Amino acid sequence: MINTEKSQKALSVNQIYCMDCLELLSQLPDNCISLILTDPPYGIAYQNHFTGREYPVLAGDDGIDYDRFARESFRVLKENSHAYFFTRFDCYPYHYLYLQRAGFTVKNCMVIEKGNIGGIGDLKGSYANNAEWLIFCHKGRRAFQRTTLLQNKAKAGSRFHKGREPSRKYKTRFNSCWFGSEYPKATYNSGWQKQHGIYHPTIKNVEFLSWLIQISSQPEDLVFDGFMGSGSTAAAAIRTGRRFLGSEINSGYYNTAIQRIKEVTDHEAVQSP
Ligand SMILES: C[S@@+](CC[C@H](N)C(=O)[O-])C[C@H]1O[C@@H](n2cnc3c(N)ncnc32)[C@H](O)[C@@H]1O
Repeated sequence: MINTEKSQKALSVNQIYCMDCLELLSQLPDNCISLILTDPPYGIAYQNHFTGREYPVLAGDDGIDYDRFARESFRVLKENSHAYFFTRFDCYPYHYLYLQRAGFTVKNCMVIEKGNIGGIGDLKGSYANNAEWLIFCHKGRRAFQRTTLLQNKAKAGSRFHKGREPSRKYKTRFNSCWFGSEYPKATYNSGWQKQHGIYHPTIKNVEFLSWLIQISSQPEDLVFDGFMGSGSTAAAAIRTGRRFLGSEINSGYYNTAIQRIKEVTDHEAVQSP
């Protein structure tokens, strides 16, 4: 439970609320979230058909109040914590600006290979979009968690330069661009969506999100995503033993997310009875 100062009711954790993200954020007290990992609408009328289904234009795709969203995100995040905001090259300048103005230290723009190649826009005169962009920020400063996600290529204990720490078995510092077979892709392809019956035009890969969560938080930490879509961030939080909280404004996607959370929770319960 999170006791809200501004409304009298308490908010439950491990919940997605079918409501506006800014409304949910306004009900949260300061410094209550351990990690923000979120995928806001970018402000374009995005509608794709790549799985053979026609999706409605995403809610909020004529733009959210990003300035307020950035300030509220900074307020609710705990000191010395990480935040990830998906973005796109043409929105990046103003997303960067508002996040920085809100108080975040912007550390990197990560570029992650997609599992599907974008098929919209000028198909004959623009490059195919094969990557997701992700703004990585700190509030205060936080070192990465030690993980066993990726083995170092160099033998453990070897030293490339005099004075440098001997290399460890597992990577402690990841690259900002995740391409190639050693990294999970940022998105699922249409085959995955059809096979699992989970449809969302901008669905993210749970394995990829779970890497970010493991690098940037500890078990039991509270992960926030105000734009849950089909519930991918919640699924990744459950799989990594974190708690989650978020919102989704579209009731259809909200129902998909609730169903998916139930399935992932049941699956995890069977794996670790
Ligand atoms: C880019 S998608 C997120 C997709 C998600 N990462 C997934 O893997 O399914 C953004 C989502 O935010 C929702 N949305 C748009 N405006 C919103 C708002 N003001 N509050 C909450 N959700 C909103 C849209 O309906 C959409 O599902």
